[in-house]
Amino acid sequence: MTSRSQPSSQNFGDGEPAIRISDCPADCVLMTAPLSNYANEIYLQGLADVRPAFSTDTSALAESARAAMEPGPFWYVAGAAGSGATARANRAAFDRWRLVPRMLRDATNRSLATTVLGTAMPAPVLLAPIGVQSVVHPEGELATARAAADLGVPMIMSTAASYAIEEVAAANDDGPRWFQLYWPNDDDVCASILARARAAGFTTLVVTLDTWLLGWRPRDLDQAYLPFIRGTGLAVYFSDPAFRAGLAKPPEDDLQSALLRWLPLAIGVDKSWDRLPFLRAHWDGPIVLKGILHPDDARRAADAGMDGIVVSNHGGRQVDGAVAALDALPGIAETVGDRLAVLLDSGVRTGADVLKALALGARAVLLGRPYAYGLALGGQDGVRHVLRSLLADLDLTMALSGHRSLSELTPESLVRA
Ligand SMILES: Cc1cc2nc3c(=O)[nH]c(=O)nc-3n(C[C@H](O)[C@H](O)[C@H](O)COP(=O)(O)O)c2cc1C
Repeated sequence: MTSRSQPSSQNFGDGEPAIRISDCPADCVLMTAPLSNYANEIYLQGLADVRPAFSTDTSALAESARAAMEPGPFWYVAGAAGSGATARANRAAFDRWRLVPRMLRDATNRSLATTVLGTAMPAPVLLAPIGVQSVVHPEGELATARAAADLGVPMIMSTAASYAIEEVAAANDDGPRWFQLYWPNDDDVCASILARARAAGFTTLVVTLDTWLLGWRPRDLDQAYLPFIRGTGLAVYFSDPAFRAGLAKPPEDDLQSALLRWLPLAIGVDKSWDRLPFLRAHWDGPIVLKGILHPDDARRAADAGMDGIVVSNHGGRQVDGAVAALDALPGIAETVGDRLAVLLDSGVRTGADVLKALALGARAVLLGRPYAYGLALGGQDGVRHVLRSLLADLDLTMALSGHRSLSELTPESLVRA
């Protein structure tokens, strides 16, 4: 929150607001609804003429971030593959479904807390893995890790992070955390990264399958902007003993050789289903496959003994003209919902979006670009603000549509527009 210089006439006495949340009795709504309380906090701060530093409209953050960011990093976050049709389809899919609010359902007390694959969370929301966060804010993943831990929201750390696994874990402290793997084309390096992640307290492994090559991204191509080839976003590799063992000199002394070793390890090889046992042998926690869009692939994931999937098209960054993640969700949830934890990302912007995904069969969603914009605008405070805004919006929308618990969200909660 920013303080404005002129106190308003709405202040009382010595300029303190007339009501503070901490003054309220325990059974007052201001105390009993911790997630949606963010709205009350904001209104009460308004009595002292303090306004939120960033927009509370999570779908409008891109606009303010654009004004604050350099074009390279901004378009790296905002851009999509090809014509952008997949990214647009993601949003259009959410817009095609409408919640049908129900009345007099005693939704005063609600429960949004849930547990997914053994990880408890205050609401069915995790932070999606977003790589190379230092291009939007110098503290990058460290700021994200602190904000997530502060709210108890699980973060998924990317292999393409700007900080080492151990540094992000330390910033995340006792917060819940999962690790996202871009599967290296070298078994020793892969095993080493997995062992480090496990030792650093990451509980679930998220294996991203859709990015073994980078998609055709005109926004980045037109600016010839790719942070990795400057050595940014490679901290996980550059700090890895197995990776460093293959170098004559450390990356700090010879960046070019390190990049030439990294490139063939990181991209260019598509794996196959028969390789999954390798991951199982090197990870003793739950494994989630990210990037699933076809029910047959979801079934194969279940048959292969995986624990979960993320229905995702990578926010439209990989395949232009692809199916919207939300459109793929119902068929997949119907096929494997009883065998796998089905998560969804790609296009989630509001509380209503979360409810729609849950009603169509997701156990939880991953929030992507909006928190990257929050990070760009305000570092840790920006991420915290975006998360609190989404969770408050989610809680209020759940309440006002007459739902008390997540299990009450079913396809009957929606109509198609
Ligand atoms: C700038 C940026 C970087 C990303 N980096 C990764 C990554 O390192 N690993 C990964 O699995 N997904 C990555 N993603 C994809 C997200 O995890 C998620 O699937 C996507 O952001 C969802 O789309 P949305 O942001 O439009 O909701 C990235 C997305 C963005 C926007």
